[in-house]
Amino acid sequence: MVSQLQLSSLTPTPSRTTQNEVRWLEWIKQQDDPYPALRVFSENYHYFSINQAVSFARLFSVIPAHDRDSLVFLADMLHQELGQGKSDTVHSVIFERFAKAVGVDMSKLPLAADQVVEGVRWYACELDRGFGGSLPCALATYQFVEGSGIDTYAPLLGILRDIGLSEEDLEFFTLHAEVEIDHTAIAANIVERARETFTPEQNQAFNTQKWLLQRAWEQFWGDILLACQRETSNLAVSN
Ligand SMILES: [Fe+2]
Repeated sequence: MVSQLQLSSLTPTPSRTTQNEVRWLEWIKQQDDPYPALRVFSENYHYFSINQAVSFARLFSVIPAHDRDSLVFLADMLHQELGQGKSDTVHSVIFERFAKAVGVDMSKLPLAADQVVEGVRWYACELDRGFGGSLPCALATYQFVEGSGIDTYAPLLGILRDIGLSEEDLEFFTLHAEVEIDHTAIAANIVERARETFTPEQNQAFNTQKWLLQRAWEQFWGDILLACQRETSNLAVSN
């Protein structure tokens, strides 16, 4: 499928873990009852999940038509993200099983843009703008997104297993904990090949977009943490 993009020749992408992401994970771990917070997380993450898949498709408009290796891989990525032709295995649908397991009122989903926390809305907007932008902007966005999940899924999976959620309910996280490592390495290969032809201005645009996404990603987790803490303390007061 991606024979020309050999994984063995790739170097890992640097970590994109944010301080707020680590703070959120640490905080969730300490909760006697993490379910109210997990519901807040799920509702917000679901918004991100469904929107990023559509934004990702914009990337195809900037990949050179002769770069069949990249196009084949990206098409396969989108095919996987959208369930490989089966609506019940679309990744956001698999995520909905997790949301249901932690008690989300499924009739609320998907949340509207004005119902999610600001950081999630901002990050989703930046992804959409980035994937639909120039080649440097789109590739920076692609590389950032591929790397951003790696540091989240594995530790979160451990925490969710400790809480007692079943493997079936955690399929979204196990799936991504496995595939994101290879996907990130291949993304790095696609991006680095393209960057060999970049002008200094294009490199500047690439770096600026990554810097912007890092800021938005930090706020994404910071605002989720605040919303989770607010929900948990509101419930403690009302009980
Ligand atoms: Fe996915």
